[in-house]
Amino acid sequence: MTAKTFEDLPGAGRVPRHVAIVMDGNGRWAQKRHLPRVAGHKQGVDALKRTVHACLRRRVQVLTVFAFSSENWNRPAEEVAGLMELLVLALSREVPELHKNGVQLHFPGDKTGLSARVVRGLESAAVKTVGNQALVLNVCFNYGGRWDMVQAARRLAEQGIEINEETLSAGMALAHVPDPDLLIRTGGESRLSNFLLWQSAYTELYFSDGLWPDFDEIELDKALTDFAGRERRFGQTSAQAPGSALPTSGRQHA
Ligand code: IPE
Ligand code: IPE
Ligand code: MG
Repeated sequence: MTAKTFEDLPGAGRVPRHVAIVMDGNGRWAQKRHLPRVAGHKQGVDALKRTVHACLRRRVQVLTVFAFSSENWNRPAEEVAGLMELLVLALSREVPELHKNGVQLHFPGDKTGLSARVVRGLESAAVKTVGNQALVLNVCFNYGGRWDMVQAARRLAEQGIEINEETLSAGMALAHVPDPDLLIRTGGESRLSNFLLWQSAYTELYFSDGLWPDFDEIELDKALTDFAGRERRFGQTSAQAPGSALPTSGRQHA
């Protein structure tokens, strides 16, 4: 018997356009092996590479990952420094191949808290890949959902623009993509931890016990298959919103 490909899985026709992931469990992965936590973060970069390739193959249009939260500054200084270093290193190593594969990079988050060196790395990766079309990859770094809402509201207030759902959405850090259809969190916790609070209003949530460094195509397919079986109603009744796991009107993904 030949191995099953994603196309054979139930619901393969309903691939989410936008998948968001809270990549959690790196520290525990390392601790189980008596390694420093940063070793888990390094393995986490490999898991992200696998996931990007899997999303490209499945024609997911947008992948948004949580790499460093507004609150992660509260970790030991050594771990924070390790994460900054890893970001710079991963960008210099991985951007050429991502670019070759048509990945468009964005880094939603508060740049003001980051060192000039980190900001330069992020900006040059974004500029280099701006014309790519195969997959939009948002790496949320120094990102928090509360920060995002406040920065959008503050800019509207400064410009004297009325605050409503449309203007606020347009000012948020993910205004360049539709809202996520599916949000996966690895690592066993069932919470958002300040990720995409505004954008995930109608996102399907999927929690898995696996640790992020172990995440692979098989784990992704479990989440995609689960998503394909969900009924998204957007406030309507089941009879009004039959079947589809993907939104049909524009409002819920403004
Ligand atoms: C997620 O893994 C990565 C970041 C938050 C940067 P963790 O480092 O939170 O791993 P655990 O939850 O401690 O295992
Ligand atoms: C969320 O994970 C942030 C990232 C994955 C970058 P945390 O490990 O920081 O979340 P909490 O502290 O368990 O809520
Ligand atoms: Mg964690």
